[in-house]
Amino acid sequence: MTLPYNNIVDQREVQRWGKGCGRFPTSCVVRHLLVAANLLKPLGTLTVWDMTFGEGRFWVLIPQVRVIGWDIRKLKWYRLPFQFFKQPCWAWRYEEPSPHPDLVAIDPPWSRWQRGGRDRAHYWINKMEGTPEHILNYCGKAASEHFGVPLLVHYKDRWVPDGFRIVTEVWYQAVVRNMKMPKPSWFAILEPE
Ligand SMILES: C[S@@+](CC[C@H](N)C(=O)[O-])C[C@H]1O[C@@H](n2cnc3c(N)ncnc32)[C@H](O)[C@@H]1O
Repeated sequence: MTLPYNNIVDQREVQRWGKGCGRFPTSCVVRHLLVAANLLKPLGTLTVWDMTFGEGRFWVLIPQVRVIGWDIRKLKWYRLPFQFFKQPCWAWRYEEPSPHPDLVAIDPPWSRWQRGGRDRAHYWINKMEGTPEHILNYCGKAASEHFGVPLLVHYKDRWVPDGFRIVTEVWYQAVVRNMKMPKPSWFAILEPE
């Protein structure tokens, strides 16, 4: 698959790639990035620490990853994690699971507020420290640096912390009901320098 010159990929285009991409386009985008970064090997397992596991959608179509996940909620999973911590992601510092990661993934909520400015009840734990930036820095960046492994990021903006470089990136234009033309979001694999 070749991406257009500007590296923007439209959800509907991804859905035409077939093989499950129709239902799980973000998993296809993640797989594309892992292949481009040469992280998926034909044989062998890639251990991923997904610090904001959510529904596990990123991993549905990538059977060769073994996912250890954190999330403050236990949602309906589309992919079973190998191990799951119903805890804020920064808990990895106090209870360090094994095996250690080959890749860290972070897909933080883009805001700690619900539309309309009201608190999300289940985000109470984030009141003090759970800004998207905190989650990016103290979960994604910190774990990636600690283990010296690449970092997969999905965020509303390009986010390249000091000491990291972009290995590969894609802007993803999602189709969202009730929003006219949402800004594309950013998927990338970063590497500690
Ligand atoms: C954008 S979603 C991630 C979706 C996920 N990538 C997937 O494929 O399903 C963000 C997730 O971060 C979780 N979250 C919010 N604050 C968190 C925290 N402090 N630690 C861990 N997870 C958190 C939310 O519950 C939500 O499931």
